[in-house]
Amino acid sequence: MSSNIGRAFKVQIFGESHGKMIGVTIDGLPAGIGIDEEWLNAYVQRRAAKGSAIATPRRESDIPHIISGVNENGRSTGYPLTAIFENSNTHSGDYSFLPDRPRPGHADYPAITRSLGEDDLRGSGHHSGRLTLPHVFAGGIAMLLLKQLGVEIAAHILQVGDVRDRSIDPVEPDLEALRLCHTREVPALDEAAGEKMMQTILDAKAQLDSVGGIVEVVAAGMPAGIGAPYFDGAEAAIAQQLFSIPAVKGVEFGAGFGCATMPGSEYNDPYYVEDGEIRTERNAAGGLLGGITNGMPIIARCAFRPTASIGKEQQTVSLSAAAIGKDAETTLTVKGRHDPCVAIRAVPVVEAAVAIALADLYLQG
Ligand SMILES: Cc1cc2nc3c(=O)[nH]c(=O)nc-3n(C[C@H](O)[C@H](O)[C@H](O)COP(=O)(O)O)c2cc1C
Repeated sequence: MSSNIGRAFKVQIFGESHGKMIGVTIDGLPAGIGIDEEWLNAYVQRRAAKGSAIATPRRESDIPHIISGVNENGRSTGYPLTAIFENSNTHSGDYSFLPDRPRPGHADYPAITRSLGEDDLRGSGHHSGRLTLPHVFAGGIAMLLLKQLGVEIAAHILQVGDVRDRSIDPVEPDLEALRLCHTREVPALDEAAGEKMMQTILDAKAQLDSVGGIVEVVAAGMPAGIGAPYFDGAEAAIAQQLFSIPAVKGVEFGAGFGCATMPGSEYNDPYYVEDGEIRTERNAAGGLLGGITNGMPIIARCAFRPTASIGKEQQTVSLSAAAIGKDAETTLTVKGRHDPCVAIRAVPVVEAAVAIALADLYLQG
């Protein structure tokens, strides 16, 4: 079982939630890219949402230790770049119900079956949201590469439960407003919507339950003509990245599922010329036509399911009882430290996933 992705910008993540460390190796990064460690550190810290009442109380420094691939001038050498992150704040006792009683809705049962019982499921092991930390770091490196092309990627929380933020303008995205919302505990464009989302999450938490959400992302400044048709298409590459994020259950681009009810005359984005550049008046296509960028902002949304680990009693089975033919049905109350809405901390993860896909497509030429 491997955890790698990419053809030109290759990313390999490794480690388990309660092992010594987790990390990432990036292979294929061109030489000479400025590796701004201060910026990278600030970016990965956004994912931690430290001190927030709606994030896991697990406290880790999350500081990236770059151990290869960067020279003394702070630029990429062109050889594999590896970064590691220590795990120190582990409470493995919280997971003593595993491997016997798998959590409903989590990866436990299929993971035990797939690994022939060898999976290290403490803290959810390799299936933990903690593995999104090296994923975000790799995305940060991809962003440093993409910045040179003038590409900027930014996401926000579009929905939590049934509370909705305003959408990103798909033609003229307000990047400044997106950057500003990243400084808030709930990264919504509309502060009032963000407060309602916060309350929805706190209510779910108080009821020992969890809630899902939608993250919307834009990649602005991507030149036209990147990608390929069919299997190697940009939608396919971005979707694979987004669906790799734990808890993502739906991905759409541009008008998304809404396109099914639109007439062609509304869906087709009319072309025009502005300052010698070909643009479209609308952006139902979300910046992608035939798997190739058209120069308009790339817009994607992904739906996050509600967190599996909840404090409410749930029905499960005892695998050891089942193995000896005893009545296996039992219950489980998950303790430990969990995010009541993973979509909030996933906002920078979504940005990172899109950045890695675009860096890979760009380097493939
Ligand atoms: C940033 C982030 C944090 C997460 N934190 C938790 C958590 O605290 N508890 C939990 O049960 N799942 C959490 N998850 C989701 C699980 O890892 C995921 O639901 C599980 O591996 C099963 O995979 P699936 O939902 O894609 O089927 C998190 C996901 C992300 C992206």
